[in-house]
Amino acid sequence: EVFKDSGKASIAVAHEMAQLIRAKAGRGEKCVLGLATGSSPIRVYAELVRMHKEEGLDFAHVITFNLDEYFQLEPGSRHSYWYFMHEHLFNHVNVRPKNINIPKGNIPLDEVYQHCMDYEARIDQAGGLDFQLLGIGRTGHVGFNEPGSNSRSLTRLITLDHLTRVDAAGDFQGISNVPTRAITMGIQTINKARRIVLLAWGHKKAEIIQRTVEGERTSEIPATYLQDHPNVTFLLDEESSADL
Ligand code: GLP
Repeated sequence: EVFKDSGKASIAVAHEMAQLIRAKAGRGEKCVLGLATGSSPIRVYAELVRMHKEEGLDFAHVITFNLDEYFQLEPGSRHSYWYFMHEHLFNHVNVRPKNINIPKGNIPLDEVYQHCMDYEARIDQAGGLDFQLLGIGRTGHVGFNEPGSNSRSLTRLITLDHLTRVDAAGDFQGISNVPTRAITMGIQTINKARRIVLLAWGHKKAEIIQRTVEGERTSEIPATYLQDHPNVTFLLDEESSADL
């Protein structure tokens, strides 16, 4: 779906999420949301916060799982995704802290594998992801599934692509401060979500959107595995859709 501007698209996806939260609450069920970081979803979170404050959108029965976290950053670090999510969403709505799940970036290397397996198990115990929000990196990553990630990958530690670190350098005041590794949900973890919405704004995303949507499925562009999903929508603006 191509929108004239990303603001309108962000409001549309926030409304879809709100409708799902309300529908599941109406049936007495928890709503399990997979959440993303980066600049693309910021206005989605702003609209969810507005709906909570002005329309009473209730997050008491919402369970969240974030896609990824930088490795070896303290959760309180202002560069962490933990910080990002609290700043943009969790501090402003009534989601229960025990229902917030974000991969832990500050664990010893020898605990990472178990942590990742536990993360997968927690998603399954929650009943699986009802909805997964995604952005896309210029390498074709979703979450931090960099080129080389296959369709059956699960939550794991990954080495970040150089281009990903270049793109993050601004936030970290220089590429040397950008972590080299991250923990990310896998492609299989993402593709098991019952509904997926990917957001991409601006001309810098045009090339990767074209390759993701129109290209062959390949581990060189892990986002192409979304082509396997039966219920995925890409929300684009005119710039990001320009090469389609
Ligand atoms: C990071 C995140 C991704 C995100 C991507 C794009 O690499 N790990 O989940 O999709 O950035 O970010 P932006 O939305 O700022 O373009």
